[in-house]
Amino acid sequence: MTDAPKKLFIKTYGCQMNVYDSERMAEALGAKGYVTTEVAEEADMVLLNTCHIREKAAEKVYSDLGRLRPLKQAKPDLKIGVAGCVAQAEGEEILRRMPLVDLVVGPQSYHRLPEMVEAKGKVIDTDFPEEDKFEHLPERKTLKGPTAFLTVQEGCDKFCAFCVVPYTRGAEVSRPVGRLLTEARDLVSRGVREITLLGQNVNGYHGEGEGGAWGLARLLREMAGIEGLERLRYTTSHPNDMDDDLIAAHAELPQLMPYLHLPVQSGSDRILKAMNRKHTAAEYLHLIGRIRAARPDILLSSDFIVGFPGETEEDFEATMDLVRQVHFGQAFSFKYSARPGTPAAEKPELPAEVADARLYRLQALITEQQRAAQQAMVGREVGVLYEKTGRLPGQMVGKSDHLHAVHVTDPSGQVGELVRVRITASSTNSLAAERISA
Ligand code: 5AD
Ligand code: SF4
Repeated sequence: MTDAPKKLFIKTYGCQMNVYDSERMAEALGAKGYVTTEVAEEADMVLLNTCHIREKAAEKVYSDLGRLRPLKQAKPDLKIGVAGCVAQAEGEEILRRMPLVDLVVGPQSYHRLPEMVEAKGKVIDTDFPEEDKFEHLPERKTLKGPTAFLTVQEGCDKFCAFCVVPYTRGAEVSRPVGRLLTEARDLVSRGVREITLLGQNVNGYHGEGEGGAWGLARLLREMAGIEGLERLRYTTSHPNDMDDDLIAAHAELPQLMPYLHLPVQSGSDRILKAMNRKHTAAEYLHLIGRIRAARPDILLSSDFIVGFPGETEEDFEATMDLVRQVHFGQAFSFKYSARPGTPAAEKPELPAEVADARLYRLQALITEQQRAAQQAMVGREVGVLYEKTGRLPGQMVGKSDHLHAVHVTDPSGQVGELVRVRITASSTNSLAAERISA
């Protein structure tokens, strides 16, 4: 017997929420003597933190699990776990189809992982427990750089017709204000200068605070008062939860960065209705107008689904029109894929070629807008928070206020510094800049 630390390999699929969850799981297992490794072959435990939102997610997980078979055969003590939304959605089916799996844990049960790894035999936990998992997860020990995510809200009550999140992540739950402020202050005391508040429906935040439930705007204002916390962001939002107070916060708070991801999914009222989005294209455009009035230089991002069941050429053109009217700084677009258990999955799908052709056209338009938005930054003065050194000597890399990746020539630059730069050039995926001396 040796008491060498056990090694944990985590593969993370999908969203930022999962990236955050993987870090917290690694910490929870750290308390049981696990250290993380980048090499699956040397692991004592392999954890797949899965995502179920698009495409053939479950099948991909099953085929990844199949690929772990030789590893398990070579090392029978190897523990294999499935976490995340596929774990939640598939549950016992995973143990049935993949006997090599030892544990299945849903997103609401991560705090139980340390007990689960010590259990003999197979374990499964996909409950939605009453207790707050965050209260039971250890404090973060490792911080990578000056930016951090902080989950303030989980779950979603919106039930868009295509989406699994309300089923896999459950109902909206907001973490209490006091805890979040403590965590934010702790992050800042350990060098964090930018915090992104995370939630599946983050602007629906309604956490318990002084005098009752606080909305996201009030939480942001309070966080903006934390000394040393220079930048705040939040994601992902629903248009119907962008209230006046939150829009006002964009005008008021210099710490709140001029970037907003606000998914619209479609520009056709008929499709928006079928998607159960509960707003029209005109209402979205009106909202964008109000947000831009509050913060004129805000860069907007969105999500789109093309090929939703019943989408006609005219519906798709309405989406293209909406994009032409908004001028997004960037956007994600996806081909619709049926998620079992969602209402849209009952409806007949469009031919794949039709959806593919539309996706291609939409992405071309979005790319054009993204290039234009980047190009428009050239010559401007913006803030950049250095996250790491660049590949070239004397180069620093960070994100601008508008979330563009920026390469700055700055031989004396330090990771964690927030500097003013002038943008000198735009390339495909990043901007180049020079530091403006103080
Ligand atoms: N098919 C395609 N895209 C989807 N999304 C969510 N569910 C589906 C689906 N079934 C997209 C939405 C959402 C983003 C996170 O993923 O655009 O905003
Ligand atoms: Fe899914 Fe977002 Fe709709 Fe909620 S608001 S159901 S997370 S797409």
